[in-house]
Amino acid sequence: MNALSVHKQYSLRQHNTLGFDQLAEHFVVASNDQQIEQAVALAHSNKWPLRVIGEGSNIVLTQDIPGLALHLGDDTIHYDATGTAHQTLVSVGAGANWDHLVHDTLLHGLNGLENLSLIPGTAGAAPVQNIGAYGVEVKELIESVRAFHIGSQQWHEFSKDDGDYSYRHSMFKKNTGQYIISKVTLSLGQQHALKYAYKDLHSYLEECHQMPPTPQQIRDAVISIRQSKLPDPDLIGNAGSFFHNPIVSTQKSAALKQAHPKLPVYPVDTQSAKISAGWMIDSLGFKGVKQHGVGVYEKQALVLVHFGDASGERIIELANQIIDRVQERFGVQLHIEPLVI
Ligand code: EPU
Repeated sequence: MNALSVHKQYSLRQHNTLGFDQLAEHFVVASNDQQIEQAVALAHSNKWPLRVIGEGSNIVLTQDIPGLALHLGDDTIHYDATGTAHQTLVSVGAGANWDHLVHDTLLHGLNGLENLSLIPGTAGAAPVQNIGAYGVEVKELIESVRAFHIGSQQWHEFSKDDGDYSYRHSMFKKNTGQYIISKVTLSLGQQHALKYAYKDLHSYLEECHQMPPTPQQIRDAVISIRQSKLPDPDLIGNAGSFFHNPIVSTQKSAALKQAHPKLPVYPVDTQSAKISAGWMIDSLGFKGVKQHGVGVYEKQALVLVHFGDASGERIIELANQIIDRVQERFGVQLHIEPLVI
């Protein structure tokens, strides 16, 4: 059995896409189930709190991490040999880069993930916040999730229903810090109808005369749209959308729409509707604002950015100013989407 190598006072700058320079008191990489168990035992015997850090694309570090930060190293992708082009189970190690997985599955002729192209982060993080973009959420493709429960030190295989997935939420997010996800199994294949009704995606494909599109054309379009609106974390620190799009009652959304006819409103069900946080923030004039080394991205008001020399606290200050102004103007409470540590 391979011994774990423990790094002390390890900089997490390369492990969070906002690029905040906080330290982990201890840092290890676990590349298989046995090493995950060893890491948990190590934390347990030293009474260290334990936290999983993937690519850190959905966290805001406002302080150093005490105890043990665990990074998952398994990035293997396994295609079920009994699968067909119509339905194949694909199991991916939690440490795999998400977009590499999307690219690889399309190369294998399996569609389903194309709308989720270029989302930063690891495969293991995808179920936690039920990543979604351009009309697709990963919950639609998840078959099961293998995870280690830290408290009882037991392995579990969670079915799609056990995951209790909803908009940017899941059982794993509700129980943050209790599970270590080691593998995600997705059900992919040609039977997944392609989805391209999302406004920006549809217009882009139409303009490129790619109707009906292939899965690869959808991937290319999503990449191009994302690159035009969202900052590349390698160039400007960011964690994607910094706020959820709030879900309000249909009554409230109708009143808001009457007062602000341009506000984008997306019906969720008969009772509720999602409203565009980006539009509200934009209309308050925040787009492109810069203060104390952080700011609001100039092309997408829902994305907060870090220019390289600030702390996580600064971005939370800016987020709170935005939350207050949106509450004041629209009577709507915004919630921060990434996990604030
Ligand atoms: N809008 C503005 N100004 C802005 C931003 C948005 O007016 O600065 C309005 C526009 O009318 C635009 C509409 O809002 O048409 C929707 O904007 P966009 O398509 O960029 O989507 P979003 O609601 O701002 C959500 C997700 C993104 C995802 C996109 C595409 C959340 C919190 N965010 O953003 O996810 O990529 O839809 O599906 O649901 C993420 O979660 O990190 C993320 C990037």
